[in-house]
Amino acid sequence: MKRRDFLKTGTIGITAPSVIFGDLKINTNKNDPIILSTWEHGLPANDAAWKTLQNGGNAMAAAEAGARVPEADPKSTSVGFGGLPDEKGNVTLDACVMDSTGNAGSVAFLQNIKHPVSVARKVMEDTKHVMLVGEGARQFAVAQGFEEMNLLTEESRAAWEKWTKKRREMTPHETHDTISVLVQDKNGDLAGACTTSGWAYKLYGRVGDSPIIGAGLFVDNEIGCAAATGLGEEVIKTTGSFLVVELMRQGYDPTTACEEALNRVIKRHNGNPDFQIAYIAIRKDGKIGSACIKWSFEYALARGGANKLHKIKGMI
Ligand code: GLY
Repeated sequence: MKRRDFLKTGTIGITAPSVIFGDLKINTNKNDPIILSTWEHGLPANDAAWKTLQNGGNAMAAAEAGARVPEADPKSTSVGFGGLPDEKGNVTLDACVMDSTGNAGSVAFLQNIKHPVSVARKVMEDTKHVMLVGEGARQFAVAQGFEEMNLLTEESRAAWEKWTKKRREMTPHETHDTISVLVQDKNGDLAGACTTSGWAYKLYGRVGDSPIIGAGLFVDNEIGCAAATGLGEEVIKTTGSFLVVELMRQGYDPTTACEEALNRVIKRHNGNPDFQIAYIAIRKDGKIGSACIKWSFEYALARGGANKLHKIKGMI
């Protein structure tokens, strides 16, 4: 489906209550849950999130449940177990969550724990902090009962060993990327989760956008939510997901907000960046949007009983 087609068929929300900002009136979409996530691994993620909603879970529980699916899947080589390691062969994971109350939790540079998204949620719910990193995050996870394990699979070790022969720099778009899951539940509440093993064969200690609130993910329950995938360094420099939500607050529709946030990146790179970033967004009224810089991007959308992958073309 082309982006413009998608815009034409994008669903508008239904009923009040509404939020008014200047001339902009945003109604709340209710009773029509939406799950929007990145890439093909978003499809099984959406299934799990949908089940959680059906079982009475809220948007936050659903987003976490969705993100845990690729984290546990060794075939998703950019997330969790089986994620490609850094240049030294360490699998280091970043994740964050944000709920409808504006609360947030995050972990970065976490090792040996399969579900960083759940550790991030624990940070949000069981501590006074937002972010734990590295060894501190690992110790916290273990104290919370998370099991330690080796996250390098035979396949990801073999891929890394092959890479060490030439040490060619990889970019996230070559290795697929982050799973970001945005959810609007039947009450109209919004939440999101974002988790990744980051840039394959990165420098030891590198952290991307995915655990940075406002960069990899942002939720404002009055306006909407947004999440990123792609080259984290450039998402951080433009506070990407926060920017998308703020643009929606100013009246941009979700896709135009994603495009405008990407325009800032494109401009900084003289109109022709050689990397990928994509954003997904849900507005409070249930309208969704997405855009990517170049090539193509796929998002998985579950609503109204259907869960489908949609492909969009890059802006340049
Ligand atoms: N977007 C994932 C990363 O750059 O780590």
